[in-house]
Amino acid sequence: MIFPLLLAVFLPAFASAVPRELVARVKESIIPPREWTRQGRAPPHLPIELRIALPQPNFSELERHLYEISDPFHDRYGQHLSQEEVNELVTPHPDSIEQVNEWLASHGLSEEEFSRSPARDWVKVKVPISLAEKMLDTEYHVWAHSDGDTIIRTTTYSLPEHLHEHIELVQPTTLFANLRAMRTTFKFDKEVSTTVAANAPPINVPTASGGHVNASCNFTVTVTCLQELYNAVGYVPSATIGNQIGITAYLEQYANIQDLQSFFAEQRPDAVGSNFTFISINGGLNNQTLDEAGAEANLDTQFAFGLTHPIPPTFFSTGGRPPFIPDDGTPTDTNEPYLDWLDFILNHPNPPQTISTSYADDEQTVPKSFAQRACNGFAQLGARGVSLTFSSGDGGVGDGDSDPATQTCFSNDGRNVTRFAPLFPPSCPFVTAVGGTIFIPETAVPFSGGGFSNVFPRPAYQDQAVSGFLGKLPKGTYAGLFNPNGRGIPDVAALADLFRIFLSGEPILIGGTSAAAPTFASFVSLLNDARFKAIFRVSASLTPCFTPSAKISLQVSTTSRLAIIQDAATKGWDAVTGLGTPNFGKLKDIVTGKSTIKIGT
Ligand SMILES: *[C@@H]1O[C@H](CO)[C@@H](O)[C@H](O)[C@H]1NC(C)=O
Ligand SMILES: *[C@@H]1O[C@H](CO)[C@@H](O)[C@H](O)[C@H]1NC(C)=O
Ligand SMILES: *[C@@H]1O[C@H](CO)[C@@H](O)[C@H](O)[C@H]1NC(C)=O
Ligand SMILES: *[C@@H]1O[C@H](CO)[C@@H](O)[C@H](O)[C@H]1NC(C)=O
Ligand SMILES: *[C@@H]1O[C@H](CO)[C@@H](O)[C@H](O)[C@H]1NC(C)=O
Ligand SMILES: *[C@@H]1O[C@H](CO)[C@@H](O)[C@H](O)[C@H]1NC(C)=O
Repeated sequence: MIFPLLLAVFLPAFASAVPRELVARVKESIIPPREWTRQGRAPPHLPIELRIALPQPNFSELERHLYEISDPFHDRYGQHLSQEEVNELVTPHPDSIEQVNEWLASHGLSEEEFSRSPARDWVKVKVPISLAEKMLDTEYHVWAHSDGDTIIRTTTYSLPEHLHEHIELVQPTTLFANLRAMRTTFKFDKEVSTTVAANAPPINVPTASGGHVNASCNFTVTVTCLQELYNAVGYVPSATIGNQIGITAYLEQYANIQDLQSFFAEQRPDAVGSNFTFISINGGLNNQTLDEAGAEANLDTQFAFGLTHPIPPTFFSTGGRPPFIPDDGTPTDTNEPYLDWLDFILNHPNPPQTISTSYADDEQTVPKSFAQRACNGFAQLGARGVSLTFSSGDGGVGDGDSDPATQTCFSNDGRNVTRFAPLFPPSCPFVTAVGGTIFIPETAVPFSGGGFSNVFPRPAYQDQAVSGFLGKLPKGTYAGLFNPNGRGIPDVAALADLFRIFLSGEPILIGGTSAAAPTFASFVSLLNDARFKAIFRVSASLTPCFTPSAKISLQVSTTSRLAIIQDAATKGWDAVTGLGTPNFGKLKDIVTGKSTIKIGT
């Protein structure tokens, strides 16, 4: 087992004689990720903002809605839930709200001192460390990361016995993954000298627009290459139909507007002068000093917004990286980035229907309870019609750390055995994990992240395709290195290397599944555009989209795929490129109901 065991502590027989709030039992206990070492006790007076998650007893109902409304072949396809309907489905039982209130009151905390999410499934309260230690029967310490970062955490916490069923998790406690550990997944390419003559014959690709792709695309990927390869040449999306696309950023990754204009001038001239909406979350910045341009942010915004122009684009920058100095008396900023972003976006009345993220953590450094709850948050967005793409990672079956010197394919369960290391959030079944290909004809790129979750079981929509893949693995291959019953990663793929972007004024080539996620998201956004146009004739109240379980119908056959990876090692699904790369023309007919033929039949 990789994940924290929930330690059972046997209650003494006389427990009922002790006031029930005094009988604490361990709620969660973890082995800290290996890069962290414990320092001294946390200063008791420092404020810490506790986030308490109350159970969502009707979550399975939400999940059912999600799968029905995102399956193009279901009657309810596209009939997304409203924000209010989603909130109702994740509202805790009144008993849970009451019990948690009583517990907080017993520590002197009244309703005015805490805040609640609109669905009342989260409570946030700022308390001194000393009180948090009392409430959770624990001790907080300062922990130092090998890169010098420090945070305040504990490896175990307890809750009164009667609260175990009313509280799913409390953080920050055991969540060691922090902003700095959250890796982006791009890499720079060496300058590629190969050029191609302007009159070189095009590359034949039967599924591409016109059946061919410019020969230069084998060495340098541009917006035009992707439109050709993924069969979207000439498709003109609308700026005003209500469809939007978003890119998230963390780690002080800034999207430079001057670079974006240079990129547009070269690759998307009709977009020159257009701009994105910038949304700052938790103090996130977008510094426009040219030297501060972020490779990740520039890659994501240039390709996503270049491919989807004029669909209104948004760039979300989530801030909040400490630096935390344990002794200077400043509040500990121990917020968690996905929660900050999720808080914001779940409360947003009108979020973009397609949002791409190219940042992830090792799944094994994320406590299971937290991963599940964050994943549920992604499902809440999905039920409202928001498609989320995440890059699958750049470490193959490893941890996304492309530096072999620091790569860690070792379990963090105390046994330190060799084990594949999938990434979270791509391991969440409610998001679309995007792996990578290279060259034309496309072939899996060696770094493409993939594998099987150790936290999330395989969702029904993957049963057929993933079982097919597992059945083809020679018996015993990689046995013990992965969880064959886990959610398979990735779902789909797109080109992921040799992308030409502008960075700090210069054109460069860059790669990573970081390139694949916004690329795939762009075609999803174009599909939404097509859906909006088709559906508006009927009713304007639907917010169509392509959420993960559309894969239910896209994986029915192992012979014909979402698109065809000409040179893939395996047909059907595989743990490097998922179901394959998009064929916009074909998918458009499916999502707009023009094609009633399931892919592969
Ligand atoms: C939640 O589930 C319970 C039990 O299945 C049901 O009675 C209740 O109506 C559900 N609530 C919502 C908001 O769907
Ligand atoms: C192929 O791309 C090259 C470089 O971008 C360009 O010069 C050439 O005109 C293109 N050829 C065709 C047939 O579009
Ligand atoms: C594209 O480049 C790759 C790698 O050099 C090569 O194997 C492949 O044959 C090239 N494709 C074409 C159509 O030339
Ligand atoms: C683009 O948008 C940003 C943020 O929304 C704004 O600060 C900036 O002035 C805009 N730039 C241009 C060239 O319109
Ligand atoms: C942007 O970055 C530059 C260079 O690091 C710095 O001097 C400047 O203060 C920053 N601007 C803002 C608004 O943070
Ligand atoms: C785990 O095992 C690897 C390989 O034997 C070793 O390099 C590493 O130091 C070990 N880590 C710990 C925390 O024991």
